[in-house]
Amino acid sequence: MRVLSVVGARPQFVKLAPVHSALVDRGHEHIIVHTGQHYDHNMSDVFFRDLGIPEPNANLGVGSASHAHQTAAMLSGLEDTIIHFSPDWVLVYGDTNSTLAAALAAVKIHVPIAHLEAGLRSFNRRMPEEHNRILTDHASDLLLPPTAIAMSHLRNEGLANRAVVVGDVMTDVCFATRDAVRQNPPLMPTDWGNTDPYRIATIHRQENTDDPNRLKQVIDYLASSSIEIRVLAHPRLRNKISEYEISTDFPTLRFFNPLSYPQLVHAVVNSDGVITDSGGLQKEAFLLGVPCITVRFETEWTETVALGWNTLVPNCDQSVDEILTMPRTHQNIQPYGSGSAAKNVVTELETWLHNRG
Ligand code: UD1
Repeated sequence: MRVLSVVGARPQFVKLAPVHSALVDRGHEHIIVHTGQHYDHNMSDVFFRDLGIPEPNANLGVGSASHAHQTAAMLSGLEDTIIHFSPDWVLVYGDTNSTLAAALAAVKIHVPIAHLEAGLRSFNRRMPEEHNRILTDHASDLLLPPTAIAMSHLRNEGLANRAVVVGDVMTDVCFATRDAVRQNPPLMPTDWGNTDPYRIATIHRQENTDDPNRLKQVIDYLASSSIEIRVLAHPRLRNKISEYEISTDFPTLRFFNPLSYPQLVHAVVNSDGVITDSGGLQKEAFLLGVPCITVRFETEWTETVALGWNTLVPNCDQSVDEILTMPRTHQNIQPYGSGSAAKNVVTELETWLHNRG
């Protein structure tokens, strides 16, 4: 079986790692195509290096642009690339513009598409990720939802007969990395410091960054923590802070460049809490047993909220200190699987081709 994975943005490199290992372990051919959506060294290359993913077979070098321009550039490049490699599967990940472009390119030339992380919904139709995931699910031949709730969304949209719950591949890589950094802690940035308690923050969603008043509200909210906040700044956040001339000069706020994946896991495990608008980080905090505040009106990962580890604070109006210090009990419930989802993914790809004959 020849599988062509299309990735382009940071969270997709993380999901690619366990899938790559599982495909290679079972003797399949894996072609990796990078759209070039994320291109900074610390947003892309370090993930390939640290997670043991080989160099992509092709890089379309698309870079940043408006949604339409970025997606269109990917679409034409991907059609040529898929035709060139002639895979049995195009495998797409999550909900970025790279995901949608790959699904659209493949469906038009009748190459089977499998969507990893299918069925997630925020029900917020203003989010670019929500358009991407709904359109990708409906274009795909095989849907691989991570959870029972994601499966129920697909059922509601009439897609259940194309879907199989496989668990969450991010759990595979998060647990493996947690165990690895426990043995061998990664080298952290030189000014990281390691004795004082701290909290981790990341903010990058358009809804939080692209309006100056909203961005100022979010930055002020981070600064309201009595414990140091280490902001791992996505390029979009840095660009918008400087464009809108928003003050970040607060005694408890410190800014760092994005971390590599092992550094991030190490940083979260040793932190006192997380404040974020990232889907991936909400779930990683949960998996690592660290409380989280999500600065959004809704979350796709509702299990983290239901189990008491994640609190949505859309209006930045509830005390950071109170939420993050609330007592919590560790329960032995694993809504995201136990860390073997990538093997299930490979089995489902094999089974579908076998049944098709
Ligand atoms: C994208 C995904 C989002 C995902 C996020 C993870 C879409 C619609 N959004 O958002 O779902 O959670 O990746 O990070 O696909 N930039 C750089 N260097 C880079 C990458 C981006 O400077 O390597 C800057 C550019 O100024 C660009 C901006 O960041 O305009 C936004 O990048 P883009 O890839 O369009 O979206 P993200 O916000 O990263």
